[in-house]
Amino acid sequence: ESIDNGSVTWKSPSNIALIKYWGKKEDQIPQNPSISFTLDACATVTTLTYKKREGNQDDFSFELFFEGKQKDDFKPKINTFLERILKYLPFLKNYHFTIETSNSFPHSSGIASSASGMSALALCFMSLEKELNPTMTEEDFNKKTSFLARLGSGSASRSIEGDLIVWGKHEDTIGSNDLFAIKYPYKVHEIFKNFHDTILLVDKGEKQVSSTVGHNLMHNHPFSQQRFAQAHENLTKMQSVLADGDLDQFIAIVESEALTLHAMMMTSMPYFILMKPNTLEIINRIWKFRQESGTHICFTLDAGANVHVLYPENEKDKVYPFIQQELVKFCQNGHHICDRIGFGAKKA
Ligand code: PMV
Repeated sequence: ESIDNGSVTWKSPSNIALIKYWGKKEDQIPQNPSISFTLDACATVTTLTYKKREGNQDDFSFELFFEGKQKDDFKPKINTFLERILKYLPFLKNYHFTIETSNSFPHSSGIASSASGMSALALCFMSLEKELNPTMTEEDFNKKTSFLARLGSGSASRSIEGDLIVWGKHEDTIGSNDLFAIKYPYKVHEIFKNFHDTILLVDKGEKQVSSTVGHNLMHNHPFSQQRFAQAHENLTKMQSVLADGDLDQFIAIVESEALTLHAMMMTSMPYFILMKPNTLEIINRIWKFRQESGTHICFTLDAGANVHVLYPENEKDKVYPFIQQELVKFCQNGHHICDRIGFGAKKA
């Protein structure tokens, strides 16, 4: 190890699952495969500064700044992440790290920052790994980064590349596996190019249920096995949808996946309702507008009340005015984010 000090910056995006990951085994192994659109505007920028420490060290040494301010309450989470990845990056205790991170989306907007945040951090550590092992190929770099990001947050494994990403072993998807995410390996119809995701911030409050608690509730869940099997079937169906550009079938799968995710939470013990009245108001208006306009607007949800509104590029002149006039009023302070499908993380 000959690198004494240095600094690296990565910008890593968030992603939105079309087929949801919900339920995991030991070591962040997913119970079912998932597929996501990488986003473009919603991202985390992280700078990692590293400095070699003297002698043998048996602890980690790092400071953390979030949006310019020292953030000690995030430290335990980062420490757990470092513990998990030390096996794969044995140099981690030999350096002192300064981690400076900020999000492009507003803090506590109810947008999960774990996918973009954990992938950005994994990318920074991997840049140091690459300095120490310069012969590493780009393919190996991406695989290992996704593998490490997974150990931070499962969905973070899907944020390294774009534009469509599969994570989790699936019998009909070549190369898919539980350990790291891959680019969707088949040809995709051009209707999915530049697909839009307008994110409606219905509720910016703290999450009622952390995703850790949510995943764990799938362990003794009466419908878990059917749900995991359904995700496999939906991913197989999604493959012909993506090949043919069949937007009606796309909508049927994506909306059913979103509602199934929430149905799992409503039928767990303890049970939760994460949708708000305005979430339902928005969904009903999307359905009505879709019928009246003949457009292919649809929605998906994460583990919260916010609504992701999806639509193709060639319908944006009809759909976006509708969103502005009829949906934005259900957002907290009218807050929404115009995002679209993106191509993965970039080194600054
Ligand atoms: O990455 P986690 O552990 O926060 O899980 C996220 C799960 C969902 O966002 C609800 C679905 C998904 O596949 O992203």
